[in-house]
Amino acid sequence: DDAYLITHALAKDTLSRLRDVETEQVAFRKGLVKLGRICGYEIIDGAMETEYVGVETPLTETTGERVRGLGDVVIINILRAATPFVEGLLKAFPRAKQGVISAGRDEEAGMDEEGGFPITIDYVKLPEIGAEDTVIVADPMLATGSTMTAVLDHVLGAADADPADLFVLSAVSAPDGLLRVGEEFPQADLMTVAIDDYLDDDGYIIPGLGDAGDRAFG
Ligand code: PRP
Repeated sequence: DDAYLITHALAKDTLSRLRDVETEQVAFRKGLVKLGRICGYEIIDGAMETEYVGVETPLTETTGERVRGLGDVVIINILRAATPFVEGLLKAFPRAKQGVISAGRDEEAGMDEEGGFPITIDYVKLPEIGAEDTVIVADPMLATGSTMTAVLDHVLGAADADPADLFVLSAVSAPDGLLRVGEEFPQADLMTVAIDDYLDDDGYIIPGLGDAGDRAFG
């Protein structure tokens, strides 16, 4: 029910390189991995709690801190643009379980009058999601929100899950998509590195970064 802007300077730096039309495939994919890692650290820093633990150093005993719940994280990878983004997230959450959903907009159908696209979901493979889990649904682009709402329907509906925390993470979002996901899934915390200006008639985020899937994979 909250929206957070990820304002880490390296996140803005990396996103600016991704936006640049001169950034070619390999650099684009590496940039998405890097951005995923930074976003993962930002989720940990901004939204997860730490607890005190006893630590024995080689010399003495002291008190340290540990992030709670790092063993109970589920990351949902929305094929295909999210794959490098999730690779980066996994560096911040190495013990996370991962679900995979292939979801694509039917671009030929065009945007309907409510500003959404029909979504085709071909493949869904989810781990069990428990009440103690933190679920992070990652997609670099949140445009109309059609893909994300269809995915969340599957994750929460079909899998009948009610996780402790639900994060929707994107690199670039359009206001339309944020509003739609926020309205339909009030339990979700929305996190994004940038909120862009608007969607064009083809449903592309402006200024955006183009088609993340095509730029990362060809
Ligand atoms: C893009 C993008 C998001 C979706 C966002 O995927 O990666 O998944 O569109 O748009 P929406 O919010 O309007 O649904 P695309 O359908 O191009 O598939 P791809 O990632 O496989 O290229």
